[in-house]
Amino acid sequence: ADTLGAAAAEKGRYFGAAVAANHLGDSQYVQTLNREFNSVTAENEMKWDALEPSQNNFNFGNADRIFNHARQQGMAVRGHTLVWHSQLPGWVNNLGSADQVRSAMRNHINQVMGHYKGQIHSWDVVNEAFEDGNSGARRNSVFQQRLGNGYIEEAFRMAREADPNAKLCYNDYNTDNWSHAKTQAVYNMVKDFKSRGVPIDCVGFQAHFNSGNPVPNNYHTTLQNFADLGVDVQLTELDIAGSGSSQAEQFGGVTQACLAVSRCTGITVWGIPDHYSWRSNDTPLLFDRNYNKKQAYTAVLNAL
Ligand code: XIL
Repeated sequence: ADTLGAAAAEKGRYFGAAVAANHLGDSQYVQTLNREFNSVTAENEMKWDALEPSQNNFNFGNADRIFNHARQQGMAVRGHTLVWHSQLPGWVNNLGSADQVRSAMRNHINQVMGHYKGQIHSWDVVNEAFEDGNSGARRNSVFQQRLGNGYIEEAFRMAREADPNAKLCYNDYNTDNWSHAKTQAVYNMVKDFKSRGVPIDCVGFQAHFNSGNPVPNNYHTTLQNFADLGVDVQLTELDIAGSGSSQAEQFGGVTQACLAVSRCTGITVWGIPDHYSWRSNDTPLLFDRNYNKKQAYTAVLNAL
């Protein structure tokens, strides 16, 4: 196969990209998206602040633009993200009691998952619940403060009820290196959920790599160990700082690590051309600003 999506499909996987609604008018962007990818994640448009800027006022306009584009092209859609401390509107942070946070969370999950019911293959139910850095501690947030450690479990139970057909994922970053405390903390949570029957189906590895957080040489071990708990794993926001052959080698290695794990069901890169990347000082993607395929692109295609 000569596109990322078709090559991944031959291996029973998807190859996706994060898409921003405001780029859908850029014809080169859309051409590349439609040609190369068979799954889409909204880069910002399905986050809480975008969908429910004030309590119980839902605005699906931009999210639906991305969703409809994807579905018209026959692409799968990943849902990102339901419960996250960031890009969270102020009104949620100001809720004073556990009951208020719990019912706001339930309503958000019900309305958002209900809107796309049966049509989103995987949802990031909870994003980045563990602390930045490597302590293995829970990150502070209004959810953690008001509901305590049980909020993650509560969110997954609500999500299963809202759309029983969606795969429910926990998604985080700096969880790639098996020897890191943060990786172990997420692993132990998933293990506990599986042993107690808390509904969780997959773990998303954001996979934002740079010199401070390089691709670990034990990546395959990490992905396999999670998969062995009985969950799918997905690389959900892949980008790798750098350029040329060293960047290409790392992209190829990450792709191989996923393919070596039968439950690694797909890869999503966090953008299409370098100049639209959220990491504006880097060139971490597979296409350059003229939509030429980079060495990294070829390395990924060859690895698939
Ligand atoms: C980023 C987007 O790419 C930016 O456009 C936005 O300003 C901030 O969020 N982890 C995540 C993603 O789960 O949602 C983030 O996306 C990148 C880090």
